[in-house]
Amino acid sequence: MPELLLEVNGLKKYYPITGGIFGRKLGEVKAVDNISFYVKKGETLGIVGESGCGKSTTGRLLMRLIEASDGRILFEDKEITNMSKSELRKVRRDIQMVFQDPYASLNPRNTVEQILEEPLIVHGMGTKEERKKRVKEMLEVVGLSSYHSKRYPHQFSGGQRQRIGIARALMTKPKLIIADEPVSALDVSIQAQVLNLMSDIQKEFGLTYIFIAHDLGVVRHISDRVGVMYLGRLIELADSEELYENPKHPYTQALLNAVPVPDPDLKKQTSLIEGELPSPANPPSGCAFHTRCKECMEICKTQRPVEQNLNGHYVACHLYS
Ligand SMILES: Nc1ncnc2c1ncn2[C@@H]1O[C@H](COP(=O)(O)OP(=O)(O)OP(=O)(O)O)[C@@H](O)[C@H]1O
Ligand SMILES: [Mg+2]
Repeated sequence: MPELLLEVNGLKKYYPITGGIFGRKLGEVKAVDNISFYVKKGETLGIVGESGCGKSTTGRLLMRLIEASDGRILFEDKEITNMSKSELRKVRRDIQMVFQDPYASLNPRNTVEQILEEPLIVHGMGTKEERKKRVKEMLEVVGLSSYHSKRYPHQFSGGQRQRIGIARALMTKPKLIIADEPVSALDVSIQAQVLNLMSDIQKEFGLTYIFIAHDLGVVRHISDRVGVMYLGRLIELADSEELYENPKHPYTQALLNAVPVPDPDLKKQTSLIEGELPSPANPPSGCAFHTRCKECMEICKTQRPVEQNLNGHYVACHLYS
């Protein structure tokens, strides 16, 4: 077994739904509903699924930006879920995030230099001179120059701003980067450049990535393994090539069919998955996907499928149990 950087067991995040004048609890949104997975050192784990399936919540739970309702998160064999403040500070140096919208995540009133310096100041890292030196180095790593350091976020293009977001994530020399849809807001022509940059940086610094996207196409090339989420659950996880060539879960198969085909001769239009996405506040009984599944059987309506491990290809579907 290769060394694991992260291990997640039975992770849950339920948000209460309150209402009425007394703010009574009316129910809960099962944003993340009992998921388990691990991430090996140096690999990229892709996480995909439709909007609202719990991808960002998972990312935030891993950094403990929000508290889990249940479950365990081990980072380098240390439990994150019950760490003291000072231990957590150390972990937050080692785990950094890159966000979808670099404009919203970069303070518009600060210069690039101030933005990049901030994580070092927060973590009490380096002297002023050392910090300035690192800003310069990281700008170069992401393909910008030190003369950009006195400029403000609005003076950059979307792709450049995401480069700044990546540089900021690198400042504290993290081990794990959680990238939450880092290229979704960018023009298609720029997406590949940013993905290539992230790949290069990963090799150069030996980083581990969790790469979140709603589109299987985006994560394919950058991911070693890919996990597919549906309504807060992880329904399939396998090596990237295996998942694309041999998808087992009907939901994954439907998602793959929904990936737009760029070849105009194929004339295959984007086929969206049929049926409406149910609400995570009121997920279907049994298998959460059964209301939209072409292969739905009686058992799927009542019993939640248990995850099966088929030679490292994990799938939670009654067709395989
Ligand atoms: N603070 C919150 N309070 C209540 N519900 C929340 C909260 N944050 C997220 N949710 C709900 O949890 C579910 C999962 O949200 P999440 O943002 O993790 O989805 P996502 O997969 O990242 O979606 P997207 O692709 O749109 O970014 C959604 O139904 C969302 O409405
Ligand atoms: Mg999200």
